[in-house]
Amino acid sequence: MGVIGIGTDLVEVERFRLALRRTPGLTERLFSDAERAYAARRRDPTERLAARFAAKEAVMKAMGVGLWRFPLRDIEVVRAASGAPSVRLHGRAAVLAADRGVTEWRLTLTHTSTMAQAIAVAL
Ligand SMILES: CC(C)(COP(=O)(O)OP(=O)(O)OC[C@H]1O[C@@H](n2cnc3c(N)ncnc32)[C@H](O)[C@@H]1OP(=O)(O)O)[C@@H](O)C(=O)NCCC(=O)NCCS
Repeated sequence: MGVIGIGTDLVEVERFRLALRRTPGLTERLFSDAERAYAARRRDPTERLAARFAAKEAVMKAMGVGLWRFPLRDIEVVRAASGAPSVRLHGRAAVLAADRGVTEWRLTLTHTSTMAQAIAVAL
């Protein structure tokens, strides 16, 4: 299985917090119910959401598409029982990935109170 693309993104948690506060409904537009429910259980949900936003941008970069070619909710970060994150695509993102021959993803996240980063690999 070959590498089709890699992508990364780094998000400033406080800037992201302001963006979510300023735009009503943005959280629901960007994140699935499961992503929001997971974040809501943590001490600072925004830190988790920032990491997931970084993941969505990283996935777009790995597919070689510009931002906002499809709704960001089409890219979902799911969590295994171990805590390991993975990528699940829906809608136009799934179609685009299939067109590019992507059959699997690898994703890693890291975050602190100030920064959140994701790296995605399309296989
Ligand atoms: C994975 C681990 C090293 C995280 O390190 P950390 O420095 O505390 O936190 P980081 O910000 O660098 O990474 C956090 C991210 O690592 C990812 N992660 C968690 N568990 C993981 C695992 N088993 N494999 C790969 N990635 C994992 C998650 O995406 C997490 O972000 P999220 O909680 O928002 O989903 C640490 O949680 C660990 O050692 N886990 C091993 C499994 C474990 O002990 N689980 C405890 C519950 S049973």
